[in-house]
Amino acid sequence: MRYFLAIYVLIIVAVLSIAGFRGSHSPKPPLEVFPDMDRQLKLRPQSGNGFFENGRSSQPYVAGTVARGAPYQDVPVNTGRISGTTNFVSTIPVALNKTLLARGQQRYNIHCAPCHGVTGDGKGVTAKYGMVAIANFHDPRLVKMPAGEIFNTITHGKNLMGPYGANIDIPDRWAVVAYLRALQRSRLAVLDDIPEFERAALQQNWWWVSRRDPKTRADSICRSGQNCLTGW
Ligand code: HEC
Repeated sequence: MRYFLAIYVLIIVAVLSIAGFRGSHSPKPPLEVFPDMDRQLKLRPQSGNGFFENGRSSQPYVAGTVARGAPYQDVPVNTGRISGTTNFVSTIPVALNKTLLARGQQRYNIHCAPCHGVTGDGKGVTAKYGMVAIANFHDPRLVKMPAGEIFNTITHGKNLMGPYGANIDIPDRWAVVAYLRALQRSRLAVLDDIPEFERAALQQNWWWVSRRDPKTRADSICRSGQNCLTGW
């Protein structure tokens, strides 16, 4: 019985001391059995300190330091410029393919369309909320703009437009440039771009709705959206 009582009291004390006062507030400093390096000598960032000769706690990078994995070479892919010059490259310096364009479209719709619009005409949703002078990518000046300059605008921003370099990594930036070129191209088609068999209809002032009937799987050509000729 004696042992039982002693163990009983010990258990109560143990339970109370571990769980009993948790969460209760006290103005007194906590009892620290193991201080866990809570208090130690250290330098606060961006503050003055006499330890170093320049009196700063945060030391500047050693000249030439490059963050691990950061692109640093002066090559067109990284800078959008011809190596060793400040001239922009006129074409996209990465291999173009469908995957890149699809990625570009997806990134464009996330990062650029809110302002520049899904078709690139500068009439994105922010225009409705008062954002003015958003560039229209179909403006001849921007159609002629070197690809490297567009890349540079994404990286560093331009006038009213903020930089997106931190949000969009380098391969994605080129993907966006490629998609932007596709958007521009979509409004610059010439008759030669149209397959031969479709040209005649176009020249007769028909306009197209590229449509395939899901049931009959027949393509149709429509005039004014109504009288559709099927069986093409
Ligand atoms: C918050 C709105 C906003 C977003 C998002 C935005 N832009 Fe812009 N962009 C602008 C505005 C505003 C201008 C016009 C800047 C000026 O000339 O003052 C502009 C201009 C441009 C220009 C023309 C620069 C020049 O030299 O005239 C390009 C190219 C461009 N944007 C590309 C992009 C691309 C690509 C994206 C997506 C990665 C993007 N922008 C995202 C607002 C935006």
